[in-house]
Amino acid sequence: VGITDKLDSLASLGIDAIWFSPFFKSPQKDAGYDVSDYKDIDPLFGNLVDFDNLVSACRKFGIKVIVDLVPNHSSVQHELFQAALKAPEGSPERGMYIFRDGKGKNGDLPPNNWPSVFGGNAWTRITNPDGTPGQWYLHLFDSSQPDFDWTNRWVRDRFIEVLTFWLDKGIDGFRVDVAHGLAKKAGLPDFIRDDAYWQAKPEDRAENPYFGNDGVHEIYREWRALLNSYAGDRVLCAEAFVEPLTKMAQWVRPDEMMQAFIFPYLVTRWVPEKLRTVIDDSLEAFHAVGAPSTWVLSNHDQVRHATRLALDPSTMTADRITGVGPRTEPKPDRAEGLRRARGASTLMLALPGSAYLYQGEELGLPEAVDIPDADRQDPTFRRTNGEAYGRDGCRVPIPWEADKPAYGFGPSADTWLPQPAEYREYSRDLQEGTDGSTLELYRSLLRLRRDFGLGTGTFEWLAGFPVEVLAMSNNGIRVYFNMSDAPITLPEGEVLVASADVSNGVLPASAAAWLR
Ligand code: GLC
Repeated sequence: VGITDKLDSLASLGIDAIWFSPFFKSPQKDAGYDVSDYKDIDPLFGNLVDFDNLVSACRKFGIKVIVDLVPNHSSVQHELFQAALKAPEGSPERGMYIFRDGKGKNGDLPPNNWPSVFGGNAWTRITNPDGTPGQWYLHLFDSSQPDFDWTNRWVRDRFIEVLTFWLDKGIDGFRVDVAHGLAKKAGLPDFIRDDAYWQAKPEDRAENPYFGNDGVHEIYREWRALLNSYAGDRVLCAEAFVEPLTKMAQWVRPDEMMQAFIFPYLVTRWVPEKLRTVIDDSLEAFHAVGAPSTWVLSNHDQVRHATRLALDPSTMTADRITGVGPRTEPKPDRAEGLRRARGASTLMLALPGSAYLYQGEELGLPEAVDIPDADRQDPTFRRTNGEAYGRDGCRVPIPWEADKPAYGFGPSADTWLPQPAEYREYSRDLQEGTDGSTLELYRSLLRLRRDFGLGTGTFEWLAGFPVEVLAMSNNGIRVYFNMSDAPITLPEGEVLVASADVSNGVLPASAAAWLR
């Protein structure tokens, strides 16, 4: 079933915009983050006419369209990379990517020690057209994803063309993939992470030579100027994994991007003091550059928060790469995970700034934990020899209709990742109009968030509560999030929305409520 057919459901949820994960032509070695043609749609999803229809359908519902731009790397199948493979060393074709001679006697060692984010090392050696071993190319992700050389003006110009192509189609902006990675430190030095490195505070550590380098900013200033040349509001939203938050805020200075996902907020586990601190630090860092904070609890790279928040906070193992799977112990408790996720979302949607939801979280969907090894798709699983589960568990198609094949996701039961049987009970049609369902909770939260202007509201903490209870106000709405394991009595007031039953004036453990 195509997205265009589901827009009424999305509009009725109360969203303003859709960020589409990559739909460009791609061999799909990394769920479309390996693009072989930036100006075409992969036949898996449709074609350019379908895209135009989708954009006009979104317009009818007042939904804005955000396209996922993947500028750090292309697919090995991209014509520029194919040309680079055929061209001689030192040629302009090679210069579009990062090719280097190997170290060691016959150049058979990688040019430096950089690791791939997905496991293994970040270099692959090519074979020359005459069959002899050749240079190595850099891929910070999978070997199917060679990094572009962004010091090369030609690369920049090609991407200006790509942005222009989509902007001319009337889209509203881009989510920028790996926005921390485009600039590499000159000379590509080894990244030394010895004891001293790990013992230092993030802000005092030696600079990472491939992530978070200052060279990225001039690229985004150029893109911002391009966006500014179009009438109306446009957005650039950074996926920038950099620490600390004051550094991340550099991505959203007035002449750069407008939003950057606050990942330190996403990765904060069920630890009230830490959650409070990360909210304060985010608001402060982003306010200092005049940008809104951009909250997010789940995405296509992270263990769904209905599962993650039930994991033991002392085990940091279930991060975006490790994932959770059949071997994860102790098994996350689904019921407690759902209570916590509903509470956490109720808090998030009361915060000032912008908020991104990940498809399925409005159903309270947990991670799919028991995916058989043979069905796993994430390159991480293969590159770590199965040691890390990777991200498949959050990417399983979501249930729309309980009694249809694939729970209504598509025409056949044969989905690209298998759906667990328990997904049936989260189906959207069972939740629609059902009092207390997670879907109806999200609808209420989004409606009230809009009605009370919370996105642009004025935030403050409310005093007089124990540390396990986060109490805050925004534009006169008071919000209580009970992260303790015992119920608390709510203060006086009209309950506008709550993540659990509060009819007796009591806020259960793990729940949150908005009061007026
Ligand atoms: C980003 C994407 C992730 C992808 C990676 C490489 O982190 O969110 O899904 O695998 O970049 O493009």
